[in-house]
Amino acid sequence: MILVKLGGSIITNKEKPLTANRSLIRRITSHLRKVKEPLIVVHGGGSYGHYWSVKYDMHTKPSRYSIKGISLVKNSMVELNQIILESFLESNLRPYCLPPSNFMLAGKPIVKKVKEISKIAKIRLIPISYGDVMWYGKNKFYILSGDKIMGILARILKPRLAIFVTNVDGIYSDMRTKRLIHEITVEKPIMSKVSMDVTGGMSRKIKEAVNISKNGTDVFFVNGNVPKRVVNAISGKGFEGTIFRG
Ligand code: IPE
Repeated sequence: MILVKLGGSIITNKEKPLTANRSLIRRITSHLRKVKEPLIVVHGGGSYGHYWSVKYDMHTKPSRYSIKGISLVKNSMVELNQIILESFLESNLRPYCLPPSNFMLAGKPIVKKVKEISKIAKIRLIPISYGDVMWYGKNKFYILSGDKIMGILARILKPRLAIFVTNVDGIYSDMRTKRLIHEITVEKPIMSKVSMDVTGGMSRKIKEAVNISKNGTDVFFVNGNVPKRVVNAISGKGFEGTIFRG
């Protein structure tokens, strides 16, 4: 089984609120047709979820956020999810919408439910989950990132590979020279700050990738602007990007 995170930076235009990169999404989904293994997809918020979460000062920490903000974040993620689902269908794939509230309760995964997701994937439906605003209990809500969902699913389902599709070639050792790190086996704190991002940008992704690889799953970071690289990472042919060895 393969776990793929479609980052908000690749499926949306982060400079333009509420704008999806429809043609690129379509190119990626049509490449995913070549994948012969069960697939689970998670997508980020980009200029949808992040846009409203920043506006209404909502974070990953459970709190009593603005109910208007909660509504807007949730709505925008459903809208973006719809665009992704449609693109999978147009590529003749079989997406299966999976809001994270289906398998999360009070900030924790419902392990039994998570395990059922792999059964859905095995009959060649593609479960598609996404970062979202979540009810926590005691009138509190929190932002659950797609990266965090990747960590949760990887820990419980132990996929063969986890792939983070972003809009850069991988992890750079130096942001100025853009020198790519091909393989990471030990934790290296590399920071980058992206505006309009409440869940921590690249550093959050790296932390999650390190955790997933510690559990024994190889983690790839690939540039979704070249959709072929996603499929190559899965088939093991001519990989271009950064790998966190599991
Ligand atoms: C975003 O999830 C969730 C919301 C803001 C609702 P992510 O944090 O995984 O999104 P990207 O991929 O970084 O945009």
